[in-house]
Order: sequence, then structure tokens, then C-alpha cells
Amino acid sequence: MPQIWPIGGGKGGTGKSFVTGSLGILLAREGYRTLLVDLDLGAANLHTMIGAPSGEKSLSDFINKRVKSLNETIVDTPTPNLSLISGAMNNLDIANLAHEQKMKIMRDIAKLPYDYILLDLGAGTSFNTIDFFLISNTGIFVTMPEPTATENIYRLIRSVYFRKIRQVLNVHHFRSLAKEAEERNSKATVTNPDLLLHIISELDPEKGEMLEETLSAMEFSLLMNQHRKQDNSNIGEFICRIIENHLSLKMHFLGNVAFDDHVHHAICEKRPFLDLSPHCKTALDLKSCFKKMLSLNDISGTPSVTLA
Ligand SMILES: Nc1ncnc2c1ncn2[C@@H]1O[C@H](COP(=O)(O)OP(=O)(O)O)[C@@H](O)[C@H]1O
Ligand SMILES: [Mg+2]
Repeated sequence: MPQIWPIGGGKGGTGKSFVTGSLGILLAREGYRTLLVDLDLGAANLHTMIGAPSGEKSLSDFINKRVKSLNETIVDTPTPNLSLISGAMNNLDIANLAHEQKMKIMRDIAKLPYDYILLDLGAGTSFNTIDFFLISNTGIFVTMPEPTATENIYRLIRSVYFRKIRQVLNVHHFRSLAKEAEERNSKATVTNPDLLLHIISELDPEKGEMLEETLSAMEFSLLMNQHRKQDNSNIGEFICRIIENHLSLKMHFLGNVAFDDHVHHAICEKRPFLDLSPHCKTALDLKSCFKKMLSLNDISGTPSVTLA
């Protein structure tokens, strides 16, 4: 079964695709059979980051039933061991995905014969993005040291967390428990996850235990991209601790990745940055984040039970 790393971030332009492509190349160089899937709803451009041609085959072919299996949409890239499923060529194809279609894509992704599958997710907190995030118990959030980006990342992680709670307690059950919780304590705010968990455990110990188990299996990571010299180096770690405190969710800080104009240059050349500038600080930062992610991965990267 592949290890799946969904990679997302609340805001466009933080570097999700750049990080996805770079981590994919590092995995492939280690000899892992690696697949990248471009699931960005509005801006599928992962192929450019890894120097792969566009347009040959894409997720659109599968969504529109031009091919029978997801396998048929996979293309090779110039990096050995690295394959790609290009993003939907028509935004409407994926933006209008029916729930069943989305579940089928997720189930089929989890069955593909790779060691690692990385999902490049779109910005924002749409259900499509969040559900793809929940395909795995792990995931990487990419942000950058600007207030707009860090605020969005908190909102996204919170949405992912509550969506998971709703998946475990079916919607009706969740609503009635939430209502009961509010009635029990007029001051209770059920948007506080700790309190919610506590109240649910009191009302329905079995569900409470199940929920606690599911939530404690989730481990997310944060990567601070486009870090400039003048930026505080500790913001990423600080955000992780805030999230851990507010959501009781394990958050690992992978590290800072330096801003470097060579990234822009590599994208313009349509060549992988790690091939063009392998020794600069940004490349070393990426490798350090990669090693940390790999060391965490053994415990948390398998597809989550919700797909069973
Ligand atoms: N570490 C970095 N240093 C310099 N520029 C970067 C870095 N990471 C990303 N960028 C720039 O940000 C732009 C957006 O990156 P991209 O990966 O497409 O973001 P996203 O997928 O989150 O929308 C890139 O075109 C690139 O110019
Ligand atoms: Mg992108």
C-alpha cells in the first residue's frame, strides 16, 4: 500500500506545487517509486515544476470516462522513478466533481502500485480539497511568513479537523450531539474541539473513544516556504504549537525553506529547481525538510480507514 502525502495550504502562491515537485524528486532519487497527482482545482501546473510535458493525458480523461482506469492517465517524467497524473485540463471537470466520483478517485489512487503518492492540492477550504487531504492520516501544509498566509493555514487545518470529526460521527449524530452539548451548558462553544470531544465522550462513550482514536492517529506537518533572512525563524514552530494547543492535533514543523530567485528562473526554464540549483540554501533546506518528513512517515502515511 502506498504512503500518501497530501500537500496543501490555505492560500495560492505559497509554493505547494514547488514543494510537491521537489519532494517528489527527492523521493524518486532515493529510489522510491513515486507518483505525483495534480489535484489543484483551479490552477493545474505541477507538470511545469518537474519539467514534464503537458496535455498528453490528464485527470480529465478519467473524470470524463475517456479512459477506464486511473492507471491510463499516468505519464513518465524526466526524473527516473517519478511519474505524474496531470491536473484536470478543464476547471469545471474537477470543480463539479460529484461526491461518488471523488470517492472513486481517492480509492483508486490508494490502490496504485507506488511507494509514495504525493497530492498537490488547491488553495482554499473547499470540500474537494479537504476530502483529498483526509485520504491519509498525514499531510503537509505549506505556508509562508506573511500574516495572510499563516491565518489561512490555521483556518484550513481547523476545517480539515472538523471535517474528520463529521466523518466519524455521521452528520445527524454530530448535529444532535452538538445540540445536546449546547443545551447542557449554555456557555459551551462546540466549535472548541477539546470541549466537543469531552462532551461527546460523556454522552456516547463508544463514539467518543472512536473519535479520540481517529484524531490521535492524525499527524500533520508544516513547511514554511519563501523564508527571507529578515523573517523570524521561529514562526513555523510557533504556529505548530498554537495548533497543537487549540486542536489537540499533532503538528510537526518540517523547517524553513529559503526564498531564492533561482526558483523563478527554474520555473521559467521549465526545469526542476533541484536539478538546476542543487547546492544553494533553498535546495539544502528542501532536503532537510524531506529527511524530517521521511523520518515521521513510517508512523503516519498510510491511507486512512475512511476509504475502506
Ligand atoms: N522558495 C521559493 N523561493 C522563491 N520563490 C518561490 C519559492 N517557492 C515558490 N516560489 C514562487 O512562488 C510561485 C508560486 O509557487 P507555486 O508552487 O506555484 O505555489 P502554489 O502551488 O502554492 O500556488 C512560484 O511561481 C515561484 O515563483
Ligand atoms: Mg499550485
